[in-house]
Amino acid sequence: MKRDSMKEAAKEIQNQFSAEIQQVKTSSDLEAIKIKFLGKKGLLQSLMGKLRDVAPEDKPQAGKWINELKVAIEQALLSKECELIEAAEKEQIKSEKIDVSLPARRRTPASKHPVYAKLDEIVDIFVSMGFSVFTSPEIETDYYNFEALNFPADHPARDMQDTFYIEPNVLLRTHTSPAQIRVLQTMKPPIRIVCPGRCYRNETVSSRSHVFFHQVEGFYVAESVSFQDFFATISEFLKKLFQKEVKVRVRPSYFPFVEPGVEVDCTCFLCEGKGCSVCKRSGWLEVMGAGMIHPHVLANCGHDPEVYSGFAFGMGIERLTMVQEGVSDIRTFFENDMRFLRQFPS
Ligand code: FA5
Repeated sequence: MKRDSMKEAAKEIQNQFSAEIQQVKTSSDLEAIKIKFLGKKGLLQSLMGKLRDVAPEDKPQAGKWINELKVAIEQALLSKECELIEAAEKEQIKSEKIDVSLPARRRTPASKHPVYAKLDEIVDIFVSMGFSVFTSPEIETDYYNFEALNFPADHPARDMQDTFYIEPNVLLRTHTSPAQIRVLQTMKPPIRIVCPGRCYRNETVSSRSHVFFHQVEGFYVAESVSFQDFFATISEFLKKLFQKEVKVRVRPSYFPFVEPGVEVDCTCFLCEGKGCSVCKRSGWLEVMGAGMIHPHVLANCGHDPEVYSGFAFGMGIERLTMVQEGVSDIRTFFENDMRFLRQFPS
């Protein structure tokens, strides 16, 4: 191929490009023209192929023309792209109507979920009383959730807590009490721990019960811990929680991992024991299950029950928040309805 005919061919491509770039109206037109001229099988590439037939002494000049043509095409494509973007932006601005008289959008500050706010408040009180915080797994084995807590296999007490099983021996914890075992197995008394967390029970959902809920477990194990220590600790905790003096009473109850087991009530923070709608006219609020840790549990974890003793308690956070905040249905905590959640600013 002669040098001049190479120049001719380059000129022809240049003219064709100049005519076609004028017609480009959209970004897909632009993409098409880019492929046509600069693509792997494009016009410039095929012109490059023809360099093979150019005499060796003419090759540098012919190569230079092709290169100049490529740079010119690239620049033209770039300025067309800028032109298209600018036009699109102008179009968008034209279609946007701004009403400067509209009131500004209200910003809602983020706040803690009411259940977590209560959980943190409770944990903070116990920390201020010398307890440490421990977190325990939500997926547990039968051993930690039941057996080591003195619920023998086939014991009717297991029916008190309908369980979600993942595998025959693996389950979603039904309470935070397995934390007692995990801590007692690894730590030496004196031990003062609170363990907050989520629990799961295969129960019918109602206004007072859910399939998942939160508990805070607490326990103290040392030499010669007595029920009186428990009473004093819990009375102090309840006074701090309700920010007033409350009377505390215990009623006998049964949990296989404590002996004796009790339910703890305190005088209603609202009516101070006179009877109102919050305490259903009884003057008392149920606050937790508790008791002295069963000697079998201490022995299961390698602590001599002749030397060590302790108390443990577990409270449901949703039900406590319900009475304190006047929430009548536990389900509202988990529906993510902003109208409900906004009532609990941090
Ligand atoms: C227990 O779970 C014991 N582990 C508590 C305990 C700890 C006793 C240490 C002794 C020593 P109980 O099953 O009663 O106990 O549950 C404790 C609290 O969890 C209840 O009082 C209630 O507030 C809450 N709770 C239980 N089941 C549900 C549920 N389905 N929905 C919402 N809250 C629940």
